[in-house]
Amino acid sequence: MSLCPATSSRNKADHAPERFNDDPAKWWNLFYKNNTSNFFKNRKWLRMEFPVLGLVTHEDAGPQVVLEIGAGAGNSAFPILANNKNPKLKVHACDFSRKAVEVMRGHEAYDPAFIQADVWDVAGAELPPDLKEGSVDVAVMVFIFSALSPLQWAKALENVHRLLKPGGEVCFRDYGRGDLAQVRFRKGRYLEENFYIRGDGTRVYFFDKDELAGIWRGKDGGPQFEVEKLGVDRRLIVNRKRELKMHRCWLQGRFRKK
Ligand SMILES: C[S@@+](CC[C@H](N)C(=O)[O-])C[C@H]1O[C@@H](n2cnc3c(N)ncnc32)[C@H](O)[C@@H]1O
Repeated sequence: MSLCPATSSRNKADHAPERFNDDPAKWWNLFYKNNTSNFFKNRKWLRMEFPVLGLVTHEDAGPQVVLEIGAGAGNSAFPILANNKNPKLKVHACDFSRKAVEVMRGHEAYDPAFIQADVWDVAGAELPPDLKEGSVDVAVMVFIFSALSPLQWAKALENVHRLLKPGGEVCFRDYGRGDLAQVRFRKGRYLEENFYIRGDGTRVYFFDKDELAGIWRGKDGGPQFEVEKLGVDRRLIVNRKRELKMHRCWLQGRFRKK
């Protein structure tokens, strides 16, 4: 069998890691251009899983600042606001995709008295607009850490640590090692160990529980967080109509600034 050189070199370039690592926001912009704000389900379970969100949205909680990082279309931020009784709550919903921020700003529930959506790269050099060091009570990170390359983890943690008040909490959920989505990746989508490119050009990492705990505890000399209640959420999801069994695996936990 003869391989056409033009095709084989194009395929190689198509999967070159730098194509996806150099400007990851470009792929997420495309994602939000192609998908409506309904792509991700509203994270209605947040308050149940993270009791601190009930506390900060309580009517007597006083001034509270919640920062959602990698907020996407606002599928966590808007459900938090929908349950809010605190007149002094401010949610900062940040994402490095301009398109995602546009979607949030255009949402019917976007009320600048309670929410501010901004473009911000969690692994960048700056802090988000209008947020000072030590000003955030709660940070929400839902399926965002997995979008970073391992080389970006340290800077992201440094930024989150700087932004949180002492004792401030991170509410975290993300992909676990061995999740169905990982198992389904084909060879050509591999960037590095446990790190892949989806068909739409966005990147995803699958974490092991101890590895994740080590990262947040600052094992490599990074900022230190107390790791609270980090657990593996494994589920077998059955789709009877399509006769599919899906083994899902997520990690969920809370990290507290020391
Ligand atoms: C899988 S989506 C999750 C969106 C949202 N948290 C949710 O659960 O619906 C990951 C999001 O992280 C954003 N993201 C990826 N890298 C980022 C970075 N370095 N800084 C800020 N946001 C980032 C992407 O644009 C995308 O909106």
